[in-house]
Amino acid sequence: MTKLRIAVIHGPNLDMLGIREKDIYGTKSLQDINDEMLREAEDYGLNLSFFQSNSEGGLIDYIHACKGNTDGIILNAGAYTHYSIALRDAIAAVGIPTVEVHLSNIYKREDFRHISVIAPVCIGQISGFGYYSYLLGLQALRKALDEAGLS
Ligand code: DQA
Repeated sequence: MTKLRIAVIHGPNLDMLGIREKDIYGTKSLQDINDEMLREAEDYGLNLSFFQSNSEGGLIDYIHACKGNTDGIILNAGAYTHYSIALRDAIAAVGIPTVEVHLSNIYKREDFRHISVIAPVCIGQISGFGYYSYLLGLQALRKALDEAGLS
């Protein structure tokens, strides 16, 4: 059986995890989170690739490049979540099942974080469980792909 190919995409400022606002985002670095995901992926037999960019265009180009070679996407779009229609359109354009994740609970925070413009083009959203949101996202994506007969 071929392994499912999952792209884990991190948006702006997530390269600062472990340094940045630790009370909100926790102490793990981005590398720590990627390593946790790799451990989980090994148990599930998934093939993960990782990408981080601080630029909207970089994220969009990467999502476009996923078309045809990626079965699912885990996306933490950072602040772009709240206003990037271009990112939303990129997810819709490639049509790859995508799970939106956030370390913090965006609904418990400032009003401007309560809106996700990408949510309507994602399968679902996981928010508020710290680095564990990514692992829950991976489980949810795996289940969704399985139910869609893609695994
Ligand atoms: C975030 C929440 C966003 O509002 C914020 O801009 C981030 C991180 C999260 O993972 O909790 O950069 O996506």
